[in-house]
Amino acid sequence: MIRTYRDEDFGKVLELLRGALVLDTITPGLLKEKLYEDPHFDREMVLVSEKEGAVTGFMQGVTRDIRGERIAYLKLMAVAPGNRKSGLARQMFERLEAMFRKAGATKVRIFDVPLNYFQPGIDPRYTEALCFAWRMGFERFDDTTNLVVDLNFSDWETSEKELKLAGDGIHIRRASEEDRVELLRFIEDEFALWRHEVAMAYRCDPVAVHIAEVNDTIRGFSAYNGNNVGTGWFGPMGTSSSLRGKGIGEVLLKRCLRDLKEEGNKMAIIPWVGPIPFYAHHAGARVDRVFWRFEKPLR
Ligand SMILES: CC(C)(COP(=O)(O)OP(=O)(O)OC[C@H]1O[C@@H](n2cnc3c(N)ncnc32)[C@H](O)[C@@H]1OP(=O)(O)O)[C@@H](O)C(=O)NCCC(=O)NCCS
Repeated sequence: MIRTYRDEDFGKVLELLRGALVLDTITPGLLKEKLYEDPHFDREMVLVSEKEGAVTGFMQGVTRDIRGERIAYLKLMAVAPGNRKSGLARQMFERLEAMFRKAGATKVRIFDVPLNYFQPGIDPRYTEALCFAWRMGFERFDDTTNLVVDLNFSDWETSEKELKLAGDGIHIRRASEEDRVELLRFIEDEFALWRHEVAMAYRCDPVAVHIAEVNDTIRGFSAYNGNNVGTGWFGPMGTSSSLRGKGIGEVLLKRCLRDLKEEGNKMAIIPWVGPIPFYAHHAGARVDRVFWRFEKPLR
């Protein structure tokens, strides 16, 4: 039987995902973040399949308005190993697809959900998920990667560079509560899709955001723990286009990596990149996981 997710399913869904997503580590905190802390969490779009009291399948859908277009996403999905290839994922997807159409979505994508996501696409080593996506009418349109940084690569010291930047009137420091309104407005103007992650990073103590100011005005930022808290998750970061190339990004990046190291992480993840040479040069970042992005038009 396929039905809407209930809160009391949480533990069973967690076990199901842990058993199925063998290339990932799913913690209760992560599942809670992906499910309930999604800014557009819609319980009707979270489905489970149940057999004799056991949860045998799970599929979370969500929609977002991205640059004037409503896009639907499969955000997490799994079917228990003993129950595969019997149509469960197909049934859950078909129900979601009808809901997505009704909600006015123009296309569906898989996992690469801006704002709050677990991974930015399908790791192609989940071969069944690729087969499923093709069979459901999706096409692969892009790939992306997560980089990893060995946090012992450097001490991430930035004071000399910061002094030099200060000589040019550029000041870098940790963001504080008082900066929140200005910072979120700056991000809204220049990097709108990242606002949510930065707001999430503000929940950390200390605030997991660093900023660059010129004439007391915020012109750049970097953040961590805005998604997938506890995994060493870096980003997002951005510098106003007119100030790029001055070394601001390097300092902003290193400040976050230093914090992630001090939190006890051995590795940092720089997800869904982006400027690989920038991260490789400044942080010794290496390409790690690769993800394929899939899309299915709904019209
Ligand atoms: C991907 C997954 C959710 C598919 O669930 P499922 O219930 O077995 O899928 P279905 O039985 O509904 O299959 C639907 C279609 O997908 C295709 N498909 C699914 N698994 C397949 C496989 N192992 N090999 C080939 N085709 C497959 C079939 O063609 C099927 O088409 P049909 O309905 O015309 O027969 C399941 O394999 C799974 O949980 N995998 C591990 C977790 C995972 O990969 N999650 C995604 C992480 S990126």
